[in-house]
Amino acid sequence: MKTVEAPEIMQEIIAKEKAQGKTVALVPTMGYLHKGHISLLKEGRKQGDILVLSVFVNPTQFGANEDLDKYPRDINSDLKIAEENGVDYVFTPKAELMYPKGFQTYIEVEELSRPMCGKSRPTHFRGVATVVCKLFNIVMPDVALFGRKDYQQLAVIKQMVSDLNITVRILGMPIVRENDGLAMSSRNVYLSKEERRSSLSLIEAINTAKKMFAEGEAKVSELREKVVATINSYPFTSIEYIDFRDSESLKEQEQAKENTLLALAVKIGETRLIDNSLLGEG
Ligand code: PAJ
Repeated sequence: MKTVEAPEIMQEIIAKEKAQGKTVALVPTMGYLHKGHISLLKEGRKQGDILVLSVFVNPTQFGANEDLDKYPRDINSDLKIAEENGVDYVFTPKAELMYPKGFQTYIEVEELSRPMCGKSRPTHFRGVATVVCKLFNIVMPDVALFGRKDYQQLAVIKQMVSDLNITVRILGMPIVRENDGLAMSSRNVYLSKEERRSSLSLIEAINTAKKMFAEGEAKVSELREKVVATINSYPFTSIEYIDFRDSESLKEQEQAKENTLLALAVKIGETRLIDNSLLGEG
């Protein structure tokens, strides 16, 4: 396994691999790897001859008052996990190499970036789309893997790839959860013991809505009311959004269908958690 910092070197290495007919799989991350990331690496290992992991805490996707400085980092643990999971190259650029002085080009996926997380994080998806496009140009992957944990992010990236004729196949992977149902996230380390208990409000709310839907309730107003009540029954919780949307267009729905996306953002104390599920899904 090799660690690479400079974008030009990464491009050179990949060009050589591709000249030998190798296919490339990319797993983009911000590091502090957990089992969710590992599931992407395991599938990536099967999808390409060469597996590239990028670890980059991307400053442009953080708002001014967000957690860029305290975002958890542990590169030694990340390298160990990468090695254990058959990664060929770990791309760990410094911010100055990705955004040198004079940088001024951004990608905006307009409509899909506005609702849900885009409401409280208006520049977030512009930062995500820009860095992912840069990673695609640097690593030139045949396939790139993303988690459905960040459902809107996956939708934004798919749209960008389609709109800009980028020749990469995007694979969306299932959400990996702790045994008690909390979706794995690097930010879960922020939770105190008491907050950790309240973090279960998200999966409980999702399961409640799915059960109601399975039993025949399709009115979003009814489903939402129950989701709100479930989350509010836990201490430290503050709801940012509870949305029922079309799973492709992300347009809001008043009547739920098979495959309606239920997406939540809830603050537990100071920690913002997101989760989602498709109604009617297993
Ligand atoms: P990060 O939060 O590190 O996540 C990297 C990838 O892991 C994303 O595709 C995310 O959806 C996936 N992932 C995170 N938790 C998961 C879980 N519990 N189950 C399955 N997959 C999970 O998302 C980002 O980084 C950044 O925005 C990035 C795309 C790297 C751009 O900077």
